[in-house]
Amino acid sequence: MDHEIEQARRRKDEHLRIAADEPSVQRPGVGTGLSSLDFEMHSLPELDLDAVDTRVTLLGMDLAAPLLVGAMTGGTAEAGAVNRILAEAAERTGVGFCLGSQRPMLDGDPEARRSFELRDVAPTTLICGNIGAIQLRDAPPGALDMLAETTRANAMFVHLNPLQEAVQPEGDRDWRGVYEAIAKAVSHSTTPVLVKEVGAGLSNATLQALALTGIAGVETAGVGGTSWSQIEALRHGGRTPRAIAGSVLAGFGTPTARSVRLARAAFPGRVVIASGGLRDGLQAAKCIALGADAVAMAWPFLIAARSGRDPARAVDAVVTEIEGVIETLRITMFLIGAPTVSHLARAQLQPVPGLG
Ligand SMILES: Cc1cc2nc3c(=O)[nH]c(=O)nc-3n(C[C@H](O)[C@H](O)[C@H](O)COP(=O)(O)O)c2cc1C
Repeated sequence: MDHEIEQARRRKDEHLRIAADEPSVQRPGVGTGLSSLDFEMHSLPELDLDAVDTRVTLLGMDLAAPLLVGAMTGGTAEAGAVNRILAEAAERTGVGFCLGSQRPMLDGDPEARRSFELRDVAPTTLICGNIGAIQLRDAPPGALDMLAETTRANAMFVHLNPLQEAVQPEGDRDWRGVYEAIAKAVSHSTTPVLVKEVGAGLSNATLQALALTGIAGVETAGVGGTSWSQIEALRHGGRTPRAIAGSVLAGFGTPTARSVRLARAAFPGRVVIASGGLRDGLQAAKCIALGADAVAMAWPFLIAARSGRDPARAVDAVVTEIEGVIETLRITMFLIGAPTVSHLARAQLQPVPGLG
């Protein structure tokens, strides 16, 4: 087998294992910033909880709640099995689903394509494809449409991950020409394109530059959850200069709460998806009140998907986690008097008061 394909497959499986099993890759730095904000609860909500409506339309697709399973994986047999579990759970619960990087499809890995083809288990839900900005820069024109068409995805995410690449043992270090490549590819794509980070957050400068392109929206992937700097640091397997840098910079970037606010201001009228360290429906509600149209969660669903050996049980476990997020969101909406997601979007958040 081609050495690069073999190396890419090994990297993908290592990423899954480290992300799922190493506690130090979670919640580095200052956290998401969401714990210092709260809603005021009404104990006289004057609403019927069962009539609280969590449904939204996102990227032209109807969802049961403003929630997506975040971009994670694909490209190997193990990754394909995880994708099938996650996609089936998303279909059963009516939430969106994001593929992990489709780079192996561009690298010509013959087996990779199958791990991204999920319409048989997820025929109706929103599916978003994914490619790295570096791979997009180096790909032939039309790559975005090809990646969307072969997987029957409704939209494509382009991920920015300069911190991850800088720390990664085999990472790309030359980031020149990436912005121009995104702007050009988007203008030629017939599929809606969104840009995301992978856990270091989109800063104001990044958002302002992206807003000048024709992208359909952004996903924050802010600081406070899975740290790709820390995952790559651990892959060095010892104390190397880059491993040291990766650990120091594990929480570097823009926390999720701040990134969501900045994204909403920079992208009025375009899609803003909050992500990065979101672990429950209360945090999801807070992000929507900060300006997000929807939220994505990656790591919590990976943990559920890998619980147990039986794939049917794993789907049930992911469904329970998704339903837990939606139920928490629904009860939060009830308790703050928000009958719909548009009411929630107008709800006020305040700094957490003292106990006095
Ligand atoms: C195992 C794993 C693999 C990931 N792979 C990708 C990827 O291929 N492309 C991408 O854009 N983001 C990828 N991410 C980043 C997530 O989409 C997300 O932005 C990040 O993990 C922060 O969210 P979280 O704290 O909920 O995990 C991956 C995350 C995990 C946990």
